Formats: sequence, structure tokens, C-alpha cells
Amino acid sequence: MPTKHANKIGHELVLDNLSTAVMVFDEQFRLRYINQAGEVMLAHSARHACDRSVHELVVNSEALEEQLARSITSGEVIAQRGCQLELPDAVPLRVDCTFTPVFDETVGTHVLIEMRQIDHQMRVEQDELLINQQQASRLLVRGLAHEIKNPLGGLRGAAQLLEREISAPELLEYTQIIIGEADRLQALIDRMLGPSALPQLRQLNIHEVLERVRGLVRAEVGNELVFVQDYDPSLPELHADPDQLEQAVLNIVRNATQAMQGKGTITLRTRVLRNFNIGARKYRLVVQINIIDTGPGIDDELQKKMFFPMVTTRSEGTGLGLSIAQALVSRHEGLIECQSEPGETTFTILLPLDKRDDA
Ligand SMILES: Nc1ncnc2c1ncn2[C@@H]1O[C@H](COP(=O)(O)OP(=O)(O)OP(=O)(O)O)[C@@H](O)[C@H]1O
Ligand SMILES: [Mg+2]
Repeated sequence: MPTKHANKIGHELVLDNLSTAVMVFDEQFRLRYINQAGEVMLAHSARHACDRSVHELVVNSEALEEQLARSITSGEVIAQRGCQLELPDAVPLRVDCTFTPVFDETVGTHVLIEMRQIDHQMRVEQDELLINQQQASRLLVRGLAHEIKNPLGGLRGAAQLLEREISAPELLEYTQIIIGEADRLQALIDRMLGPSALPQLRQLNIHEVLERVRGLVRAEVGNELVFVQDYDPSLPELHADPDQLEQAVLNIVRNATQAMQGKGTITLRTRVLRNFNIGARKYRLVVQINIIDTGPGIDDELQKKMFFPMVTTRSEGTGLGLSIAQALVSRHEGLIECQSEPGETTFTILLPLDKRDDA
């Protein structure tokens, strides 16, 4: 019969593998402890967050401070459902919280907060839906493209044979049109199928990839476009295909410059997330790349379908950029998500660092 102490598995190990965020605040409302789920929730490392007061960590800290004070004075456990947690530079979260006062003779009174994100399950389900829909659409496109490729080759070959047989120059013009259009279709289908080569994986620093994209786009646009680099220097290396990731990031950054018509700010941000879900799979470490633009935004209807092939609002667009980017990232077990409002559109590329499946 296993004992309650489970052969003394360290408390840290247990706390860091919880999916509930755990934080401990002292009487001055300073953070004394935070587990890994808490770090993910607050988007701060423990090193950075500990010793900070609650108002430095949370934008709408008054509500939390009130509950912390109530819990200390009453000595009672307080449960609060559906609280709004506003964090700097992030979308607000809805959380269920429990405040438990704890007393220790040496360190005095502290409050233990357990927080669970309510919309977490919803995000997991949405991600799963997105992944499944896109896999289905990729299969459909692949099947269709292969079906078109063969007759197209025949059509082109026949036009070439015909060309050898006819001598009238005005008729040659027609065979040239057939060959030219067949080539155009072929190129489109090749793009729809995406790069066929298997990923060439190597250890790489994602910042190299981002800097290469920045250099390329910098050369394409004028000085009215500003790049802000907000890189986490402690980001571990990834095992990935640099060319494929570059293509994915480039497609997103190009869209941003096109949406802003070359004027505005693009922020490239990197962070590492711990114990994070991509769809139903939970990874110990995930690299998060945000590409944020200050353009007009993307309405909800377009957001629902823009990762599918051939969806475009640009007259010169083929509507393939995002579907290719998503396919390339998904080859790395990752996912691209988007959040948008006028003036701030964020594309987030999530790439697992460890391909170990914990779920
Ligand atoms: N950052 C953005 N801001 C506003 N709209 C965007 C942004 N990114 C994508 N879009 C919208 O999503 C659509 C689809 O993008 P996608 O890259 O797949 O195709 P495209 O850019 O139109 O064509 P292609 O990339 O094949 O040249 C775009 O036409 C645009 O309407
Ligand atoms: Mg595009």
C-alpha cells in the first residue's frame, strides 16, 4: 500500500507538475513562492517574480489584495470563482481562486493561493479542433493536387507534341498558351503541396531564424516600418529545420507588413512556457514566438478560416501563406494561433522543446 509520503517525492517536484498555479504571498503581499504552472500563468519566471508585490505582477491587483487581506484577518479559507486576472501585455484570464491563510512561527502569516484557469479547457478544445480541421484540409488539398498533377502533365506533353507538328506561327501561339498556363497551374499546385522535403533537423537558436527574417523584410520595406525585438536570452536551443521555420515566420511577418502597408511596428517576442498544452498534448517546455503588428486587425470570420488554403482578401494574394506556415510548424509538432483586435494582431507560434508526451 503506497504511503502518503510516496517515498519522499520532493515537494517541489509535486508542486511543479501540478496544472494548478500555486503562489504564496506574505503579509506585505509580496510573492514568496510560485510553482511552474504559476510562472506560466503570470508569464514570469520565479526568479523574476519572487519578492515582487502583487501590484507589480497583476494589473487589477486591488481585488487580489482585498482577498489576501480578508484571508489574513479572518484566518479563513476563501474561494472565489470566475475572477478576472489582468496581466501586463496579455489578454485577461478567467480564474477560480482559493486563498488559504497559513501560519508558521518563524516566518509569520502567509496566504497560499491556488488558481485554475477556467478557459484552459476551452483553449485545449479549440486547439484540437483547429489541428483536426487543418489536418483534414491538408489531406484534401494533397489528394486534389495529386489528381490534378497527372492530367496536367499529360496536357502539357500533348501540347508540346502538337507544337512540333504544326508549322503555322499563329497556331503556335495557342500551344504556347496551353504550355504557359499548365506551368502556372503546376507552380500553384507545388506551392499548395508545400515543401516536399523532409525536415532537416538540427540544433538551432530560434533568434537566428527571427533575425534572418527581420533582415529579409527590412530589405523589402522602407524605414516607416519599425521592428522591436523582445527576445528571451535564456531560451534553450530547438531541434528543428531552420529553413522551414524561416519560411513560416516569413509568411506571417510578410502578412503583417502587407496589412500595415509598410507603416507601423512589428514586435518579435520570444518566451519559454513550462508545462504547456498544444492541443491535448502537454509539453514540459514550449517555445513561444509572438509576431505582433499594429495593423488594422483581422475580423472574427476571417480568423476562423484564414489558415485554410486559398483564403485571401488581397487581390494579388494566393491565400497560401498561412496554410503553408501552419503545415511547416505542425511538422515540428507545433501550432500557430492568432488573436486580433484593431491596432494589435498577435500571431503566436508554439514549438515544443521536448517532444516527450506527458498527457
Ligand atoms: N497580420 C495580419 N493583419 C491583417 N490581416 C491578415 C494578417 N495576416 C493575415 N491576414 C489576412 O489573412 C489572409 C490570408 O493570409 P495568407 O498569408 O494565407 O494569404 P495571402 O497573404 O492573402 O496570400 P499569400 O500569402 O499566398 O501571398 C490575408 O489575405 C489577410 O486578409
Ligand atoms: Mg500571405
